[in-house]
Amino acid sequence: MASLRLGGGFFRPDSRPARDVSVLLAASTLEGASKGRPLRWLDLMAGCGIRALRWGLEARGASVQPVELWVNDADQERDSLLAANLEPLQACEGLRLTQSHQAAERLLREAFLEHRFFDLIDLDAFGCPNVLLQSTLQAMRFGGVLMLASTDGRSPTGHDRFAAVRRFGAAARAHPSSWELALRLQLAAVAREAWLLGRGVQPLLSYSDGRTFRVAVRLHQRIRSGEEEQLGFLARCERCGDQAVQAMLGLQGWRPCACTDGCGRWAVSGPLWIGPLQAPDQLDGLLKLSDTLNTALGQDRLTQVDDPSLAPRSRKMLEGLLSDPGQPACCWSTAELARRLQLKGPPAVVDLVRALRASGHQASASGVMPGQLRSNAPLGIVLRRCAELGSKDR
Ligand SMILES: C[S@@+](CC[C@H](N)C(=O)[O-])C[C@H]1O[C@@H](n2cnc3c(N)ncnc32)[C@H](O)[C@@H]1O
Ligand SMILES: [Zn+2]
Repeated sequence: MASLRLGGGFFRPDSRPARDVSVLLAASTLEGASKGRPLRWLDLMAGCGIRALRWGLEARGASVQPVELWVNDADQERDSLLAANLEPLQACEGLRLTQSHQAAERLLREAFLEHRFFDLIDLDAFGCPNVLLQSTLQAMRFGGVLMLASTDGRSPTGHDRFAAVRRFGAAARAHPSSWELALRLQLAAVAREAWLLGRGVQPLLSYSDGRTFRVAVRLHQRIRSGEEEQLGFLARCERCGDQAVQAMLGLQGWRPCACTDGCGRWAVSGPLWIGPLQAPDQLDGLLKLSDTLNTALGQDRLTQVDDPSLAPRSRKMLEGLLSDPGQPACCWSTAELARRLQLKGPPAVVDLVRALRASGHQASASGVMPGQLRSNAPLGIVLRRCAELGSKDR
């Protein structure tokens, strides 16, 4: 069993799902890869190196595809810790390891100038990563995957509106589905930077624990038809709780909210990504891949850092995302609905989903925030179904 020294500071056991997902994403880049050239993976802000170590030991599974593994952390003092932690990779056949201690911006610019493009970049930043987006995307191969983390919770959740304007070029307003709004603002920031390069993006998965906001996207050589229609605005009236969504391309005035006295006011967030948050087919592929990797690792348990490759809570999270692709963009907090109806407590999300589907509306439990429902039903219908369920509970 490979072991790992954590060193001072940055390792968070709670981030296990993110590490598991990064292993699966790395493994997914091996599928269908051309045998003629090595794959390139970059752990841009490696900390103690756990992701790179797991990529090398776990993600390659039984594959013989050559891989160039680039591991970087700006902190020079991490040199010996990283070298010691990555030592088991030296013996891996077909794996070429390069360790560096550069500022990310410099490494990415050099890679671009030297035509070194990566199939996978994991950008696990502190704070907001947007300053690095352009140089990161420029250093990616077409079809490559970017896994991006942000710990900037204040600006995209409406708690620092000035910073949201500066960092996202967007309005961010307080909203019960604040984690989802933050993810949508992050995806919009990635999409705009990719579009500036004439490239397309596809969100693969998006999730948060309320502290870190994580998205994974695939970079496409071309902008796909309809991609620009995924940029838009989300409006909410705090007084009545009503919500409305509009694409930027078709932007017109806003309809009146549900306030009966006509005195409600929309608080508008955006531009943000109003398209899907998850790619279900790819999530399904990742889950299947985890079984394959576990079988491969079962033959050689000495190489495994974590057992199993996909922890039960990581699997549960992926399954939750799989059942909610993230469309439509309107989410309703059942606690808020119950409060507005003065119910003793919120109805179970599954019951509300069932009731709304029975009345012909789209509905699913949010995979992003617990206790939330995603639906295209108008507020009046959502409240009515909620009240009916509440009256049954009495
Ligand atoms: C959140 S930690 C990384 C944790 C690690 N990926 C893991 O899974 O445990 C962020 C790391 O980024 C490094 N870092 C911060 N700014 C950087 C920059 N501009 N370029 C490269 N590394 C940077 C820090 O030294 C720190 O180790
Ligand atoms: Zn209103």
